[in-house]
Amino acid sequence: TELANQFIADQVAALREQVKDKKVLLALSGGVDSSVVAALLIKAIGQQLVCVHVNHGLLRKGEPEQVIEVFRNQMNANLIYVDATDRFLDKLKDVTDPETKRKIIGGEFIEVFAEEARKLDGIEFLAQGTIWPDILESEHGIKAHHNAGGLPEDMKFELVEPVKILFKDEVRVVGKALGLPDNMVFRQPFPGPGLGVRCPGAITRDRLEAVRESDAILREEFAKNGLEGKVWQYFTVVPDFKSTGVKDGKRSFEWSVIIRAVNTSDAMTAEVENIPFALMQHIVKRITTEVKGVNRVLYDFTPKPTGTIEFE
Ligand code: XMP
Repeated sequence: TELANQFIADQVAALREQVKDKKVLLALSGGVDSSVVAALLIKAIGQQLVCVHVNHGLLRKGEPEQVIEVFRNQMNANLIYVDATDRFLDKLKDVTDPETKRKIIGGEFIEVFAEEARKLDGIEFLAQGTIWPDILESEHGIKAHHNAGGLPEDMKFELVEPVKILFKDEVRVVGKALGLPDNMVFRQPFPGPGLGVRCPGAITRDRLEAVRESDAILREEFAKNGLEGKVWQYFTVVPDFKSTGVKDGKRSFEWSVIIRAVNTSDAMTAEVENIPFALMQHIVKRITTEVKGVNRVLYDFTPKPTGTIEFE
């Protein structure tokens, strides 16, 4: 904590020195890295930071609300909230190929963010939640740096990257020292394309709602039963198929929810978590009674390899 406080003090000084009285723009997803960058910048330059939170309609239950509550209401940040749900879902309509879905979501995200940026005057800096492993991976050509660049050619900003010398664990410690809530700082990984990759096949509003609601139940039950923070990643998936079942004595023909819960150290391989059977039964009961359009719950027993963690 002492080290974290020293880091924060040093970064605050460095940020003020770099930015002076200019404005900084930040895409605030609510993920660990961008949240910590936001909190650091709010501390350093307050209202000179402009945060843009783009809701692509593929966020988990309560996520956009929490970003608004924490940053706008509690930290008094200058936050622009854009609900672009319809726009994303329209673009994704009838698109079944996983890579095409990812490209559409990524491309649309940059477009929405760039549109918001163009509306603002006098922005000279762009803040990013780049961390040390991102830099290592792009140097070694493992994956394209997912943070850097991407904006249209004519939009040139000087970069502000206050956590780029930190590892993920250190970012979390700094976030905690900055007063961010535990469920933001210690949250499980969540892919950029969000719930979109957990709706295999073409994304529809009803299946998306089933994924969001079942995921919320799973998270709630894991938290209640001491599995939060113990299991590395857990979520639900609702593929594009229906099966016959029986509800209230009548035939039903509805979606299946697949539960996935895995442990890993580096996400390259993963083992399936052994969830207590009684808890599983309880979760199945809740999902089949509380989530609309679902009559079946399945558990994915596949390690990585041969599965990946996500379904798409
Ligand atoms: P896979 O499915 O490849 O996932 O075994 C490994 C880890 O990476 C996360 N993941 C992503 N994270 N953007 C991200 O920031 C993405 O597009 C993305 N796709 C997968 C996944 O949740 C898991 O933790």
